[in-house]
Amino acid sequence: MTQEQGRILPHTVDLTVTLGEEHPLELERPIVVGSGPLGFGNEAGGTLDLRDVGLFVVRGISLHSRVGGPLPRLVEVPGGLLHAVNRENPGADEVMDRHGASWRAAPCAIALSLVAPSVKELSRLIARVERRADELGVAALEIDLTSSCDLLDGRRWESSVDEALRLIDTARGATNRPLIAKVSPTAHELRRLASESVDAGIDVLSVSGSPTGYLPNRTRRGPSLAAGVGELSGPLIRPGSLAAIAEAASVSGAPIIGGGGIGSPADALDAFAAGARAVSLATALWADPMLPGALLQSLRRAVAARGERSVLALSGSALGS
Ligand SMILES: Cc1cc2nc3c(=O)[nH]c(=O)nc-3n(C[C@H](O)[C@H](O)[C@H](O)COP(=O)(O)O)c2cc1C
Repeated sequence: MTQEQGRILPHTVDLTVTLGEEHPLELERPIVVGSGPLGFGNEAGGTLDLRDVGLFVVRGISLHSRVGGPLPRLVEVPGGLLHAVNRENPGADEVMDRHGASWRAAPCAIALSLVAPSVKELSRLIARVERRADELGVAALEIDLTSSCDLLDGRRWESSVDEALRLIDTARGATNRPLIAKVSPTAHELRRLASESVDAGIDVLSVSGSPTGYLPNRTRRGPSLAAGVGELSGPLIRPGSLAAIAEAASVSGAPIIGGGGIGSPADALDAFAAGARAVSLATALWADPMLPGALLQSLRRAVAARGERSVLALSGSALGS
């Protein structure tokens, strides 16, 4: 029985979501662990109960190893963190060798986040990953369009929508897996990117990245981060993230994964209301690894309270008519 005297019972609520149509990404729960803070895979299972998660996005990987940004590369700012980890990773092959077994065994879907400074390198990276993706249980690929670090001589991919669209088009030609494009809330021409990226070939738009930030060092000359400019994360970016999610949802034909600064179930409900079909959690999981479990309960209650059966009923409820 799903109803008791006409009421929907929270435990009967359907939390599954299918993101995208041509290459659908099916998630048992609408909760995404954002790339980075939880690592490449092996480490995550010890911290987090992945049975509460729908999609785990592995920390960014590149064709060749990338060194981390100079120290200090992570500082606290009021309401969040400022960091320039620079997508440090030992290269795709080594990450797959070391962590692939944990992806296969994971109780949630796995996506790889791809970092590439050129279209050519992105196609080589995808070719490398595709050779082993089925065997390792990789469900989807995410193109990281957010990196503010030293890619493209310090420019973001998103500083040129045309370049971003070329990257997406290249990736689409190289894989049949669901493709996610991850952008930051301050992406240049977000509306255009959101509306044109579906034609270029993406299945899902993840509006969950970091805006850039800068903090002078107050005790000596120079910036707080050795790299100067870094990426912001945590509660301070949430209102900007919500604005970007709402903007993207209103123009994009792609389903939105929304995130950036989500720290509580109520924050996540706001992201659904702004148009997200799944939410991304990252920095908050360091302080509260139980957040996905608490969020699942809140989602069930919120959907049932509306007399609905599917979590999709929450998506876009705040968008103007
Ligand atoms: C330490 C750290 C490392 C990160 N590494 C990556 C990464 O490798 N790839 C990526 O796309 N985003 C990375 N991010 C960004 C997060 O995935 C997320 O987009 C961002 O932190 C905003 O969400 P939040 O406020 O919920 O943390 C990283 C964030 C942090 C704090």
